[in-house]
Amino acid sequence: MVSKIFLSSDHAGFELKEKVKNYFIKNFIEFEDLGCTSLKPVDYPDYAKILSKKLSYENESKGILFCGTGIGISMSANRFPHIRAALCTSVEMASKSRKHNDANVLALGGRILEDKLALEIVKEFLYTDFEAGRHSLRVDKI
Ligand code: RB5
Repeated sequence: MVSKIFLSSDHAGFELKEKVKNYFIKNFIEFEDLGCTSLKPVDYPDYAKILSKKLSYENESKGILFCGTGIGISMSANRFPHIRAALCTSVEMASKSRKHNDANVLALGGRILEDKLALEIVKEFLYTDFEAGRHSLRVDKI
């Protein structure tokens, strides 16, 4: 489990972000919402950048990014060297993104995922540890 979770989305990911926030509030999980704050259209690279910058000095923390598909916002975040953002559409992908890739950011598609599955993916991401060992060398090569 991580100390703090940063959340950021564009307008297309806003509603799913709100649902994940509700889950965090109910379960006393500490988070910080970095925006956006409504359904008004914004540009996903801007929100990927806000979260990525935050993680550059909050390096024990994790982030969750949301856009319509999760594609644009994960591509944007992965331009930052310290970010390993994993776009996940299944619990298995979330599990492997942590165990094998030590992903520090989860990217979700608000227009792709059912809410229930999205929450399962979030939980798997947050509660799964990096296996290190042979995976460390590969992650270092990224
Ligand atoms: C916004 O319409 C949409 O393009 C964006 O949220 C995302 O899906 C891009 O990858």
